[in-house]
Amino acid sequence: MSPVRTPAPTATADRGYLVSGGAPLDGTVSVGGAKNAALPLMAASLLTDEPVTLQRVPRVRDVEVMLAILAHLGTRWRWDDPDTLRLHTPELVSIAPPPALVLKMRASFELLGALLGRAGEAELVMPGGDALGPRPVDQHLKALRAMGASVVERGGTFLATHRNPLRGQVRFDVQTVGGTRNALLAAAAAGEEVVLENASTEPEVLALVDLLRSMGAHIDRLGDATFRLTARRREVRGDRPRLRGACARVIADRIEAGTFMLAAAATRGRVVLDGVVPGHLWAPIGKLAQAGVVIRPLGPGRLEIDARRGPLRPLEVVAREYPGFPTDLQPPLTAFLATVPGESRVRDTVFGEYRFAYLGPLRRFGAELDHAADRVGVRGGPLGAAHAHAPDVRAGAAILIAALAAPGDSVVTGLDHIERGYFDLPRRLRAVGATLIELSSGR
Ligand code: EPU
Repeated sequence: MSPVRTPAPTATADRGYLVSGGAPLDGTVSVGGAKNAALPLMAASLLTDEPVTLQRVPRVRDVEVMLAILAHLGTRWRWDDPDTLRLHTPELVSIAPPPALVLKMRASFELLGALLGRAGEAELVMPGGDALGPRPVDQHLKALRAMGASVVERGGTFLATHRNPLRGQVRFDVQTVGGTRNALLAAAAAGEEVVLENASTEPEVLALVDLLRSMGAHIDRLGDATFRLTARRREVRGDRPRLRGACARVIADRIEAGTFMLAAAATRGRVVLDGVVPGHLWAPIGKLAQAGVVIRPLGPGRLEIDARRGPLRPLEVVAREYPGFPTDLQPPLTAFLATVPGESRVRDTVFGEYRFAYLGPLRRFGAELDHAADRVGVRGGPLGAAHAHAPDVRAGAAILIAALAAPGDSVVTGLDHIERGYFDLPRRLRAVGATLIELSSGR
């Protein structure tokens, strides 16, 4: 395969990373808290008038957006140390998160359930977030309505209300992480008897269940994908049930961990991950081991990823709901496979055809990719340096991995996307031996 060298994209005014790639990563990286777990925990803090303290919160862009929304709703917050966040909403001052902020990220839609639970009403515009296809909210609405809430849409704004305790049985047509969390948030405080079937059971959903339980919600898990919420043990103060304050430590970010694993593998390096939950990573660990990467536990929360000895083998991988291979690691996985000689096949059943916006940028590095619908065929081989722009957060991770693996100087722009989900990446990549500097203009 001959690496394709293309001129810089037109978005050179964007900030970028200059990456001198081709050297194996080598070192230890401490994995941070998961953004996708932290955001719903922050929304859950609205369900009580007592303080909620969250530890190991990643200070990424999406967390800052959520803080700005919460401040508008009446939450007082402060960082107690670099990653401990104290949130306190003695009184709600608004039930309408500002549209301009809601449009910045998908997770803001989970405030619908949280506000319904706290105030009995909410007003929210259709959320924004990464462009991964239509991303409908029909299942969120179906769940809230099945529990007895009224949700009407007027000119792109959803108005949700409920008067009585929420009761009902919901069967999700598709497993949805955000839809499940929205229903849990609404029912945790205001539910009397709610059953959620075919619910999502991603670790980031279970982390929310854990916090809600410690705030006083009564939630049983019945079988694999069913939750039952009851009013048992819950305190009623004033005219509405209230949960109490609590403290939680955000779970380790399995997607960040997986990204470092794949970067180590793509550069044929060795990285030790510190602070991970290996049980959340079985699918990526299994697939990398199948490819020939050596993965060893080094003690509690420590994993060694060693790809120095090779040779590596191509893979067939299907991204699906947990405990399957995570869709958020599908783009970084393809970038790794683009470095592995032979033919790999990758399929994404979660976002289907919509999670392949990174293929164009990856081809700039010389990757041979054959895309049809929800599948991509990868003919792996050596990559060459290139300039590429990240269209979304995980696409950004894929492009960075290609840049780290490709000998020569690459420029990766689109940092606004990457920084939505990865904290302090340049410093942490340098700590594992990457040569990378930040460019203010992308040139
Ligand atoms: N879906 C529907 N109707 C709905 C909701 C979802 O058809 O009402 C479909 C979606 O279109 C998609 C599938 O169901 O095809 C799964 O979507 P889901 O609702 O599970 O995803 P999400 O809640 O919007 C979260 C993460 C995503 C992650 C997905 C899947 C957060 C803030 N976001 O999104 O994270 O990809 O679950 O695991 O937790 C990322 O971090 O890069 C990211 C996109």
